[in-house]
Amino acid sequence: MTKIRTAGRFSLGSRTVNRMGYGAMQLAGPGVFGPPKDRDGALAVLRAAVESGVNHIDTSDFYGPHVTNRIIREALHPYPSDLTIVTKVGARRDEQGGWPRARSPQELRQGVLDNLENLGLDALDIVNLRLGGVEGPEPGSVEVPFTALAEMQSEGLIRHLGLSTVTGEQVAEAQAIAPVVCVQNLYNVARREDDELVDALAEQGIAYVPYFPLGGFSPLQSSALSAVAGRLDTSPMTVALAWLLQRSPNILLIPGTSSVAHLRENLAAASLQLSEEDVAELDAIGG
Ligand SMILES: NC(=O)c1ccc[n+]([C@@H]2O[C@H](COP(=O)([O-])OP(=O)(O)OC[C@H]3O[C@@H](n4cnc5c(N)ncnc54)[C@H](OP(=O)(O)O)[C@@H]3O)[C@@H](O)[C@H]2O)c1
Repeated sequence: MTKIRTAGRFSLGSRTVNRMGYGAMQLAGPGVFGPPKDRDGALAVLRAAVESGVNHIDTSDFYGPHVTNRIIREALHPYPSDLTIVTKVGARRDEQGGWPRARSPQELRQGVLDNLENLGLDALDIVNLRLGGVEGPEPGSVEVPFTALAEMQSEGLIRHLGLSTVTGEQVAEAQAIAPVVCVQNLYNVARREDDELVDALAEQGIAYVPYFPLGGFSPLQSSALSAVAGRLDTSPMTVALAWLLQRSPNILLIPGTSSVAHLRENLAAASLQLSEEDVAELDAIGG
């Protein structure tokens, strides 16, 4: 078993998770739309992740739509008591596979109810409100949608709230409405626009959960990653994840993969130690 606890743990409200987790978006079909080509393979990835100690899985009911959550339920329900499933609302899918916004209070409630049904849960551990656009955060108030989620939290449908694709100002506005336990934004060794936000959240004990930690739809490629990986006899992806773990103690990882072999490579980052020289070489990628 990969020693994923080497990377440490972090609190998300009342839940505590291993910093090395798993993102389930790659388990739907191409374009995150429809069923996967290899459903058994998808079930195997989830089961291998949990058997390896992963207790933090990121998902959404709009992956598929519904497909990824139903696969998670089939693979893992009844869920281990220490498993924290984090989902997100704020978008839906159209018939072409597009991602229109769904941020009215009614749409957010429907999103929460769909997640509950498809995951087979009475309450969701953590729900992230997905704001922003494809290119990143967009200015604007979070008051109406975040208040709608806070009401569902008061009703007991949601345990904790988070935000995704937001600015620091939007985090502060949301915190005046209800506690925020995590922020999920685009960040990796080559995309470091959120450096200040990572540090500000660390000071407050709030988790920063980078999406696209491996570059997302365009996986990271860099001579520095390859050089460090060569020296340490590991893969560039493992190095990219180890860099994130060493970047700040509040960073939790949710790399996505549809392959058990890639999953194992990714989990290996939890026990990979980068030297100061390695980190300096990698820092230059995003400099
Ligand atoms: N909040 C948001 O708006 C938002 C947006 C996007 C994603 N997310 C979440 O963040 C998670 C992570 O993002 P992501 O999955 O899009 O991107 P990612 O983790 O950066 O990269 C996934 C891509 O890298 C490949 N890959 C994974 N491990 C690999 C390895 N060891 N070697 C080579 N290739 C590898 C995957 O293909 P294979 O399947 O072939 O391994 C896939 O194409 C998602 O699963 C999702 O839960 C959230």
